[in-house]
Amino acid sequence: MDSKENFLMEEGKLIGYLKHQSFHPSLFSLFIHPFYFIRRDLYKNIKRLAPQLKGKLLDFGCGRKPYEPLFSVDEYIGIDIQKSGHDHSKPKVDVYYDGQHIPFPDASFDSLFCSEVVEHIFNPNEILQEINRVLKPGGHFSISDIVLEGELPTQIKEAAEMYAGCIAGAIQKRMYLELIESNGFKNITVQKDKAIIIPDDILSNYLSVEQIAAFKQSDTGIRSITVYAEKPLEDKRSCCGPDCCN
Ligand SMILES: C[S@@+](CC[C@H](N)C(=O)[O-])C[C@H]1O[C@@H](n2cnc3c(N)ncnc32)[C@H](O)[C@@H]1O
Repeated sequence: MDSKENFLMEEGKLIGYLKHQSFHPSLFSLFIHPFYFIRRDLYKNIKRLAPQLKGKLLDFGCGRKPYEPLFSVDEYIGIDIQKSGHDHSKPKVDVYYDGQHIPFPDASFDSLFCSEVVEHIFNPNEILQEINRVLKPGGHFSISDIVLEGELPTQIKEAAEMYAGCIAGAIQKRMYLELIESNGFKNITVQKDKAIIIPDDILSNYLSVEQIAAFKQSDTGIRSITVYAEKPLEDKRSCCGPDCCN
């Protein structure tokens, strides 16, 4: 092996290691992954809740499918959005779609998993309708996301974006839960709801001491939540005939 091949092999190993660290973090990640604690917490939480998802599972917005090894399901299919200009040859995505229509027939999946995706979606209402459509009656999902409570001052949003990522598109927790309910899901359970604390040394890059104190006393915040919900066996939302209403 010549020195260039040797270099490429070592570089490949390093990239592989960094990717592994960002999704299966260890102590070393503290030095390479700014969102280490948030990712680690998410990983632990998904590990705890993964056994509730069964059968044929759709990982919606799967990216590199970092959590796939935590699931023990019959089939694991990852879908992600087709983005023009992006190289789609390497990621572990099974199916790309147009961001509107999930290319599977009605009632294709027993369960759906989705992590850190809703804040990137421009049409969450339509996507929740699509999720409802592709789940079987009695099917269920687990979705983890970052949501907001109250209106954050702009500087805090900027600080949070730096610290936790995924904040710019985060929606209000109340609206998030209402969207799930209005799209026909039942037994909606918030299985995790944890505040994301931005350290003072990050906040102090954006806010004065007084502003930091005021923020801490306010009831606004950023939360990492996991929501479980089920598609009922009977969908009464579009009920219009004599046979479907009680
Ligand atoms: C922060 S990454 C999360 C990836 C993976 N779920 C994880 O937890 O590591 C956000 C993912 O959402 C995908 N995404 C963005 N908009 C989407 C959309 N409208 N529908 C489905 N996936 C989308 C992105 O391509 C990206 O893979």
